[in-house]
Amino acid sequence: MWTSTPFTERFGCRYPIVQGPMGGGGSTPELVAAVSNAGGLGSLGCYHLEPAAIRDAAADVRRRTDRPFALNLWIPREREDGESPEPSRALARLQPYREELGLPPLLEPPAPTVQDFERQFEAVLEARPAAFSFIFGLLPEPMVAEARRRGIAMIGTATTVEEAEALEASGADLVCASGFEAGGHRGSFLRTAEQSLTGTLSLIPQVASAVRIPVLAAGGIADGRGVAAVLALGASAAQIGTAFLMCRESGASDLHRAALADRTRARRTTLTRAYTGRLARILTNRVTDDLARAPAEILPYPYQNEATRELRYAAARVGRTDLLPFYGGQSAPLATLGSAAGLVATLAAETAAVFERLGPESR
Ligand SMILES: Cc1cc2nc3c(=O)[nH]c(=O)nc-3n(C[C@H](O)[C@H](O)[C@H](O)COP(=O)(O)O)c2cc1C
Repeated sequence: MWTSTPFTERFGCRYPIVQGPMGGGGSTPELVAAVSNAGGLGSLGCYHLEPAAIRDAAADVRRRTDRPFALNLWIPREREDGESPEPSRALARLQPYREELGLPPLLEPPAPTVQDFERQFEAVLEARPAAFSFIFGLLPEPMVAEARRRGIAMIGTATTVEEAEALEASGADLVCASGFEAGGHRGSFLRTAEQSLTGTLSLIPQVASAVRIPVLAAGGIADGRGVAAVLALGASAAQIGTAFLMCRESGASDLHRAALADRTRARRTTLTRAYTGRLARILTNRVTDDLARAPAEILPYPYQNEATRELRYAAARVGRTDLLPFYGGQSAPLATLGSAAGLVATLAAETAAVFERLGPESR
């Protein structure tokens, strides 16, 4: 049966379907619990949360489900990709949009709020989720040992075969291999994100051949054809972000959800550093088009993120969808608006239908 994989056996999930973590508020306790209750594995993106908020959010998920779920953090990076331009040049590039929104010139990027990763990790350990997933690097050895002692499965994120191998060698129990179709940030950590752009169809079978641990496939999966395809490529489960972001339980704004559901608009996505300083896939807009012509005038993360913060908030307040970063992957046009439980059920029925069509042996 297609539902019986090393992933479903390990977590006791009914389906090999993971709702990808979406930090910054995209994944909510409601979404995570709805997915886990429906037979998938929900994951809560926690990188932006203080340790106390991580504890509260995990408790909130637990009040809503007794099924397994995952918590996710960003591994702090020592060095960001690329050159650091003169801040005044980068800020001058953003000023025309600020002017349109009635914002005064920004003289320097506001100081970033940096979360204390060690304390965030302690909160995750205390919450004791079935899985801890992470992105942007390897988990340091003492933390691997702590998670293992508590029986928390570790899921690292890879964008290349080398990263998957490094994650396996460092003690990860599963690897999420993310093709460049995926919405959100590229989690590359061995080379720059621009040097780590492989599509799901190529990446998954190579990673599945290179490592012994189970592989979750992410990037461009939004219906049962995609789930069946990545299982055929050697994945143990499909990790889906954008399609779950469109569900009513997600933390996406109404404007964001509507933009993803507008098939004409959602057909155009771009990998850009324009809003945060790290490469991320979002729906193409004026800002991504303009800044694509001036990549050297983008500050490294987290400074670009701070430099665009006020602009993003002001654009959201007045509904300027041409200036807002709507995170989303290449397969948004395959997804529809609805509930998370409905999406899990539809994905399961569609995947079963694909295997049915392919013949009894394939099931
Ligand atoms: C808005 C958004 C935020 C995301 N935040 C995170 C995150 O904090 N941590 C992480 O590991 N992955 C994050 N991702 C990646 C997803 O978990 C998932 O792997 C990806 O969306 C799969 O590709 P798809 O969007 O084509 O389905 C994010 C994706 C989106 C769309």
